Amino acid sequence: MKKKLNIAIIGLGNIGSYLYTFLKQKRKILSKKSQVDLNIAFICDKKRKFKVPKNKWLKNYLDAPKIRKIDLIVELIGGAEGPAKKLVFSALKNKKHVVTANKALISKYGNQLAKIAEKNKVNLEYEAAVCGGIPVIRSIKDGLITNEINKVYGIFNGTTNFILSSMDFDKLNFESALKKAQSLGYAERNPKADLAGLDVADKLRILSALCFNSVIDYKNIHIEGINNIDQFDVQYANQLGYKIKLLGLAERNNKFIVQKVFPALLKNNSNTAKINGVLNNVVLEGKPIGRVEMIGEGAGPKATVSAISSDIISIMKGGIKLPFNTPINEKNKYKFKDISNENYEAYLRFDLNLKNMNLAQSIIGKLKKNKILIQKIIKKKNTFNRLFSLILITKQSKDFKLKRMIRNFKNKKIYKSVKFIRIEKV
Ligand SMILES: NC(=O)c1ccc[n+]([C@@H]2O[C@H](COP(=O)([O-])OP(=O)(O)OC[C@H]3O[C@@H](n4cnc5c(N)ncnc54)[C@H](OP(=O)(O)O)[C@@H]3O)[C@@H](O)[C@H]2O)c1
Repeated sequence: MKKKLNIAIIGLGNIGSYLYTFLKQKRKILSKKSQVDLNIAFICDKKRKFKVPKNKWLKNYLDAPKIRKIDLIVELIGGAEGPAKKLVFSALKNKKHVVTANKALISKYGNQLAKIAEKNKVNLEYEAAVCGGIPVIRSIKDGLITNEINKVYGIFNGTTNFILSSMDFDKLNFESALKKAQSLGYAERNPKADLAGLDVADKLRILSALCFNSVIDYKNIHIEGINNIDQFDVQYANQLGYKIKLLGLAERNNKFIVQKVFPALLKNNSNTAKINGVLNNVVLEGKPIGRVEMIGEGAGPKATVSAISSDIISIMKGGIKLPFNTPINEKNKYKFKDISNENYEAYLRFDLNLKNMNLAQSIIGKLKKNKILIQKIIKKKNTFNRLFSLILITKQSKDFKLKRMIRNFKNKKIYKSVKFIRIEKV
């Protein structure tokens, strides 16, 4: 007789409700593939959103970890704090396997949670937390396990990529592109975490810990979002041969790790520059493998449930796998470097009233005086809003110098706006 695995799904929103239906439909084939009988023993949400057999309904989510019959809890509530945190800590402490899609929780508490899972010899799986349907976590943990990965980067957020692509191809302004993303269900009603780069940062911390075999470092990460990018930046970047993308990148160099999230100009022939709409990509560089690149849907019920159900199958197949491959106490020790001493070419844009266009030469002069040299210049007169834009591509300069100059320019009231976007060579 086949072994049986009893699971509880907690949180029946976008993802949880789709998972429930999917697992019911696929139960037979999943059991065949794992040789274990899958039983959805309980489901739980704040309120019943669809018809559920009475004996499967759990009134309080915190009862799940205490029910002996349950082997595995699927947490799909979301958020780093509150009920999701209470549930996952309690589940692992009560020796239940956990599957979660919650990047915010893993990014913030992954080290602590992994330690409990290690101690209690249960699995904590989180494939769906990073880039939805792209099986990047299992690829790093299994397929690439013997490699020394030194760099991981890509587009890890479909919402912001959709907005940037809509500004580019549909010539929408930021607000209209955001509204379009919301109306199509790609952006949440409160899109702050996506727009500010926080969602990418959560995913990058997890990838970085896995790739470099370090603990998750929550604090040492540079984060900027796309709030300040407008449709003109996207168009000017195009004219200069670049695409603007919200990039997540982590790199290891000897004993140092850099983690950074920012909108970047990428040469338009780079593979990452060609990722459009809600797609995500992840690029890994290491030894001996060289370069590996994955592309796929980063969010939505279908992609996310593909990842969650693969975690469930992995647990059904048996065996205990450490959540981050190596015990947390045996992780490599690294120092984390900020980006202020890194060298970047940069895109600078100065908007001035038409009557002040003669300041262009003085801007270039001030930059030169501070050893920030220019390699490309575009001048645009916009009669519609009566503004003059000076767009410059600088040669390489230290990040702190570029930022200091931009701060100085911003302090002067004469500039309508001053923009600074780094160029990343990937
Ligand atoms: N959506 C995606 O495309 C996607 C992609 C990858 C990963 N994820 C992750 O998947 C997780 C779920 O996302 P989602 O989009 O499905 O979110 P969601 O639609 O907001 O679903 C969360 C569900 O949990 C319920 N809930 C809240 N507190 C609860 C409690 N105390 N007890 C029981 N249920 C409770 C919510 O009920 P109320 O609505 O009544 O509050 C809601 O039905 C998140 O961690 C998210 O980051 C989502």
